[in-house]
Amino acid sequence: MRDSQTAQDQGVIGGREHLEQRVNVQFRYTVSFTQAVFAPGNSLLVDTLSPTPLASPARVFAVVDAGLLAAQPSLTAQLQGYFAAHGKRLELVAAPWSMPGGEASKNDDQVIGRLLEQLFARGLDRHSYLLAIGGGAMLDAAGYAAALFHRGMRLVRLPTTVLAQDDAGVGVKNGVNAFGVKNALGTFAPPFAVINDSDFLRTLSPRDRIAGLAEAVKVALIRDAPFFRFLVERAHALRSGAEAETRAAIQRCAELHLEHIRAAGDAFESGSARPLDFGHWAAHKLELLTDHTLRHGEAVGLGMLVDIRYSRLCGLLDERAAHEASTLIAALGLPTSDAALARREPNGELSVMRGLADFREHLGGQLTVTMLTDIGSGREVHDIDRALMERAIGDVHAGQRS
Ligand SMILES: NC(=O)c1ccc[n+]([C@@H]2O[C@H](COP(=O)([O-])OP(=O)(O)OC[C@H]3O[C@@H](n4cnc5c(N)ncnc54)[C@H](O)[C@@H]3O)[C@@H](O)[C@H]2O)c1
Ligand SMILES: [Zn+2]
Repeated sequence: MRDSQTAQDQGVIGGREHLEQRVNVQFRYTVSFTQAVFAPGNSLLVDTLSPTPLASPARVFAVVDAGLLAAQPSLTAQLQGYFAAHGKRLELVAAPWSMPGGEASKNDDQVIGRLLEQLFARGLDRHSYLLAIGGGAMLDAAGYAAALFHRGMRLVRLPTTVLAQDDAGVGVKNGVNAFGVKNALGTFAPPFAVINDSDFLRTLSPRDRIAGLAEAVKVALIRDAPFFRFLVERAHALRSGAEAETRAAIQRCAELHLEHIRAAGDAFESGSARPLDFGHWAAHKLELLTDHTLRHGEAVGLGMLVDIRYSRLCGLLDERAAHEASTLIAALGLPTSDAALARREPNGELSVMRGLADFREHLGGQLTVTMLTDIGSGREVHDIDRALMERAIGDVHAGQRS
């Protein structure tokens, strides 16, 4: 779903002729919210993949998160039943292919190769669809394969965790881990479409469900004070998995992410800033330090506590706001401390501090980290007072949050 337009200018630079090439590419994709996506009477998926009657049906290869399949064994039959019911417009070219659930799909470099082999063996092309159904990690890996295959086939994501529905699955990034670094390999590649079916969330563990709420807290803290109030008022319901509240939080969080990608002017993150990554410099490091025993959302919760405390210590954030922000994280049931916060390198440096350098390296350019100035607004900072940050990390580790 893209249009492109090119323009060339001629000129002279340093005495040499040059052609200046400008390419404007516009992307459009839908993020839909539904329930029972594979009920034969639900036309959303068939309308998304095959909006107008085609001469031949849309060719689809489906990949499914193995953890999801274990929790919902009837999913394969439901999916096949749906394709059978819509056989005139959809063709499932093979039985659904299972990919490891969780970070294993991003850590094992064989996973991408095996999936690419499958796509090739089925004779798929750039107009074919990869239908990826699963958590944020598996979607990141599947999206990376889709972006590589023939330089990009159509990717339709069906995110099945709270975090994937409110953040990971709705954006334009994919990737896998390599060289001991999270998301070291990946591309920016907008999906063809995203379908969030809240029914998938019913089998999610409370731990994963709560972890996904961290991204909602994050985007509320830096962008949307009324959404923050909503999360505070409904914290108990959200913590216990109330469906209506969870759906509302997911939808607002996804909207805020989409708004940022659309309106901030840097959809493919070529600048140094990544404002929506509040709390993430420490989070990514904590995930690695704990060998991914901490979930991404849990690590983001801890990373936010560190940056809230730092924002307070350096006077950017007042006491009341710091208290409210960290109280919400605790009230939702996210972890508020972890032994990895106290881990030290052989030279005595707190290991998590290395996350700052990794973060700058991953983005390139000047170190840019978002700190909080109030509920609903952040500020980019380029210099971190290391002694103050060590104190903030120590305070969070010791349970002093604000
Ligand atoms: N691309 C992006 O923009 C972006 C943004 C944020 C996070 N991420 C990535 O997302 C990943 C985290 O994703 P996540 O929080 O969804 O966790 P996850 O993908 O690791 O999934 C957690 C567990 O839940 C299982 N699972 C998935 N759906 C299930 C269901 N409905 N019922 C039962 N079990 C289910 C999985 O098999 C896995 O074991 C990280 O790798 C993170 O880096 C990517
Ligand atoms: Zn995140």
